[in-house]
Amino acid sequence: MSTRAIVTGGAGFIGSHVVDALLAEGFEVTVVDDLSSGDAGRVAPGAELRELDIVELAALQAVVEEVRPTAIFHLAAQASVVASVEDPGRDCEVNVRGTLNVVEAAGRCGASVVFTSTGGALYGDEAPMPTGEDRIPAPLSPYGASKWAAEAYVKTWSLSSGIPHAVCRLGNVYGPRQSPHGEAGVVAIFTHHLHSGLTPRLYGHGTPTRDYVYVADVVSALLAACGKSGTYNIATGVETDVMTVWNELRSAAGADTQPELADLRPGELQHSCLDVGLAERELGWRPVVPIGDGLRRTYEALLEEFQRR
Ligand SMILES: NC(=O)c1ccc[n+]([C@@H]2O[C@H](COP(=O)([O-])OP(=O)(O)OC[C@H]3O[C@@H](n4cnc5c(N)ncnc54)[C@H](O)[C@@H]3O)[C@@H](O)[C@H]2O)c1
Repeated sequence: MSTRAIVTGGAGFIGSHVVDALLAEGFEVTVVDDLSSGDAGRVAPGAELRELDIVELAALQAVVEEVRPTAIFHLAAQASVVASVEDPGRDCEVNVRGTLNVVEAAGRCGASVVFTSTGGALYGDEAPMPTGEDRIPAPLSPYGASKWAAEAYVKTWSLSSGIPHAVCRLGNVYGPRQSPHGEAGVVAIFTHHLHSGLTPRLYGHGTPTRDYVYVADVVSALLAACGKSGTYNIATGVETDVMTVWNELRSAAGADTQPELADLRPGELQHSCLDVGLAERELGWRPVVPIGDGLRRTYEALLEEFQRR
């Protein structure tokens, strides 16, 4: 039985952790990444990196047919909400066309796909908390819309081919290797501010809540979802406000910096929290890292990363 896997977006924050976990499980791993936001330095030496754009079907298909994986973990994406608003066409190309290309290529060799969608940008502010997967999405951004459209292709291709593909709707993922330079990822951003002595700005006066999930918990969920057919929220079911995240990190740093408070930006949600009961029942998965531990681990790891640079 082959134990080959492809990780698209394997040079990114979450994808690089998936690569490490698959190597530890004994998989031969090929990373497909165009390095648009990824970093080749994040890819473990035991994995092979193929630099290509998933929008290019022929190039993707050639790699998939050569590797003949049993599973494709599809994390490559245009993952920025702001960039999706600035250029919805490219967002659609990468997230919709790119995902269609991945399921098409997977079909040629019978590989199962695990697709990372979004829980945070899909359900909208009117949804009950915690939000279950059966809630009809009401995305506010092109990014949410493209992920939702891509989900439909993944599910339709799974139904028509009989190959099990899973959709994992992730909460707000945080952990080592997260870039502090995006517009999201407050844990990395705040850690960078603390490291550099800068004053952070807390939108919504620090009151918006999110469902923060530690990256190692996300990785174990993606591995558990491999070979399953279904749509699963992958988060914690716990709401934490931004001010609490800031205070935890500030106390890890031993700093007394006061944040600047500002109004919520247009399009930003006030609350987001996902019901993870289905993943518990069907995948036998549950998150194990409490937010306090996860934040401290992340703070220490990111600080080391910033100092190394
Ligand atoms: N970080 C989060 O909180 C979060 C939440 C919900 C969903 N997700 C999803 O999880 C996945 C991974 O997110 P991340 O935070 O690690 O982002 P990331 O930007 O660190 O990783 C994305 C990777 O995909 C690569 N990529 C982008 N466009 C590509 C293309 N056209 N062809 C090939 N490679 C391409 C990038 O170079 C990068 O390495 C994404 O699909 C994202 O939408 C992330």
